[in-house]
Amino acid sequence: MKVLVIGSGAREHALCRSLSLDPAVTALHCAPGNAGIAEVAELHQVDALDGAAVTGLARALAADLVVVGPEAPLVAGVADAVREAGIPCFGPSREAARLEGSKAFAKDVMAGAGVPTARSYVCTTDEEIDEALDAFGAPYVVKDDGLAAGKGVVVTGDVEEARAHARACGRVVIEEFLDGPEVSLFAVTDGETVVPLRPAQDFKRALDGDEGPNTGGMGAYSPLPWADPKLVDEVLETVLQPTVDELRRRGTPFSGLLYAGLAITSRGVRVIEFNARFGDPETQVVLARLKTPLAGALLAAANGTLADLPPLRWSDDAAVTVVVASHNYPGTPRTGDPVEGLDEVADRDAPHAYVLHAGTRREGDAVVSAGGRVLSVTATGSDLAEARERAYAAVARIRLDGSQHRTDIAEKAARGL
Ligand code: AMP
Ligand code: GLY
Repeated sequence: MKVLVIGSGAREHALCRSLSLDPAVTALHCAPGNAGIAEVAELHQVDALDGAAVTGLARALAADLVVVGPEAPLVAGVADAVREAGIPCFGPSREAARLEGSKAFAKDVMAGAGVPTARSYVCTTDEEIDEALDAFGAPYVVKDDGLAAGKGVVVTGDVEEARAHARACGRVVIEEFLDGPEVSLFAVTDGETVVPLRPAQDFKRALDGDEGPNTGGMGAYSPLPWADPKLVDEVLETVLQPTVDELRRRGTPFSGLLYAGLAITSRGVRVIEFNARFGDPETQVVLARLKTPLAGALLAAANGTLADLPPLRWSDDAAVTVVVASHNYPGTPRTGDPVEGLDEVADRDAPHAYVLHAGTRREGDAVVSAGGRVLSVTATGSDLAEARERAYAAVARIRLDGSQHRTDIAEKAARGL
């Protein structure tokens, strides 16, 4: 099977790594990719948002499967273009990807499907905004309706800050605050059958102890020893399957990866958000534990034959990933700094620890930083404590001037908290 992956983050590196280990994959391509992905896949330049260009590349490569990683091409309809050309594509249509692209649409689908989520108002005027803020009280949760690359959500106790963000959004969702730990649960679906993966938790804040600004994610781990063993079944039944059924009922079936961001509140599980693609950095730890070859599962979702897929097989190992970010991330990051120590990790820590690249590119013989999140250092172990130790040992070998990482990824969970 010839596979083309679209995207250039650590998520795509994790996908490409797993695909490269799948004996069914005879050729692996990625566009645009990064310096790490280049070691397992052939890279191509393409405008990932241009459906015709991606389709043209897939045709030229005779790809049997296209996997679209990030949300922006999905929302732009790239999966539709690929499918219209008769090429199997893992990733939802433009219409179904609105589940991530519009918070208001997601709320409407959840209401139709009876899926538990925060109560909310969609507001467009100053009066509506003030009424909604008043109705819920502090802490305020204010979400830009559209895609905002992780910057659209403000959670604050300060009503002036909440009001200012809401007014700057145009169309805005204001909702009730959900307390309790967050869980990310992914499912592969063909629009009808839903196959949940293993839950993971990510760390959204930049600094230890969940301080500092929100980021795209600074690390993740799986499994969640503190979670109820029935969680996955419960979420499948109350969230994932009803959502997929509702989208099919509306004539816009969702196939690809459905990502449920959940809060485990004192009153039960609530959906914080849906995404229409694999999450980053959770994918790095979820795929580290998947034993079933990946390509067949993704192809079954693309082809509508997931019901025939044997149950996924999982390793009992734990996995931890630690993101190494550039100086000044999540503000405008400094780029162009050399990344050193990658060979030492490969020599001394493999196969239990390995480096997945996010914002990197090759400059001659050197790998240099090219984005905010630069590396996602991933490790497995018999438990979270061992996986953490291995991940941080590998992080310690890496030299990137001005870089930052959290030191407390999976720390509480490893201690049984
Ligand atoms: P999102 O962009 O929807 O993932 O939101 C970013 C982060 O804001 C989430 O990971 C949560 O930590 C937080 N958040 C979003 N909605 C709520 C809510 N209703 N209550 C509490 N925190 C929330
Ligand atoms: N881990 C958060 C996201 O992928 O949106």
